[in-house]
Amino acid sequence: MERQLEELRKQFLDDLEHIHKSEDIDPLRIQYLGRKGRLTAVLRQMGSLSAEERPRMGALSNELKAFMEQSLVAKAAALSTAQAATGIDVTLPGRVLRRGTIHVINQVMEEIQDIFRNLGFAVASGPEVEDDYHNFEALNMPANHPARDMQDTFYFSKGILLRTHTSPVQIRVMESQGIPVRIIAPGKVYRCDFDITHSPMFHQVEGLWVEQGITFAHLKGVLYEFARKCFGPDIPLRFRSSFFPFTEPSAEVDMGCIICNGSGCRVCGNTGWLEILGCGMVDPEVYRFVGIDPETVTGFAFGMGVERIAMIKYGIDDIRLFYDSDLRFLGQFA
Ligand code: DAH
Repeated sequence: MERQLEELRKQFLDDLEHIHKSEDIDPLRIQYLGRKGRLTAVLRQMGSLSAEERPRMGALSNELKAFMEQSLVAKAAALSTAQAATGIDVTLPGRVLRRGTIHVINQVMEEIQDIFRNLGFAVASGPEVEDDYHNFEALNMPANHPARDMQDTFYFSKGILLRTHTSPVQIRVMESQGIPVRIIAPGKVYRCDFDITHSPMFHQVEGLWVEQGITFAHLKGVLYEFARKCFGPDIPLRFRSSFFPFTEPSAEVDMGCIICNGSGCRVCGNTGWLEILGCGMVDPEVYRFVGIDPETVTGFAFGMGVERIAMIKYGIDDIRLFYDSDLRFLGQFA
């Protein structure tokens, strides 16, 4: 019985420690000291003790009973002064700490990079504050070239600007490492544009593969592989001839609309196709700018808009959602 009493004291202290509200004190008192309480239950066994043992056990259990009563009173006092003194209700649930998530644009960029890394592309980068030479001139867009009109941007001092595309990284990489080269260049670009599909800052991934024997077939193979990895194995692609000053021939690539499966809807303007990137075989003029003999190599380049890929992938219809910092939107990509 002595052991039972000791055990009971331990449990009582443990229970008492876990009480944080005044309202929980009474139920605990009843649980231990009430008529059907746990201490009372032990005391009932007193009758079965020998006459010598009885007085000692009686004293011990009285001592425990008094101890419990005093502890309950002390606890009640402590709780009520804590609450009154601080005015803080310690029983309120804590504030949930929100966990940050990786921005959906960064996630899509990572995914694109993974796909190309698996195809043997290295990742390169270049400055966002770029010079006119790398952004335009060496890409075969001399001053006054009409193609510059589509890429108005912020100009610093003479000849320095915010890059309008990631294509200048093609020039920088060929200048610094020569050929062969097989890189992608993800990064931010800037244009004087703002509506539901255009943002003054957005992201592109540039690709460049220059090496002896590279043909348009390699370009198609790489882009098919990319589209299948990114959008699913059955996605159809369409190469439409186009024009870029730094590629010849050039193409724009459309993929079958994933919203309507090609039957025509609002998103694809009833064409069944969505444009995803521009590409082509590197123009011989570009090789001349970086001191490579155009007779010795061939290569292809491509450039895609990351926001556009993300919008198609997740059915997002307004580019501005990416930059509004609305956690309800961003949290969906956790
Ligand atoms: N730089 C182009 C743009 O921003 C996209 C582009 C098109 C990049 C064709 C390329 C390319 O590398 O070959 O509109």
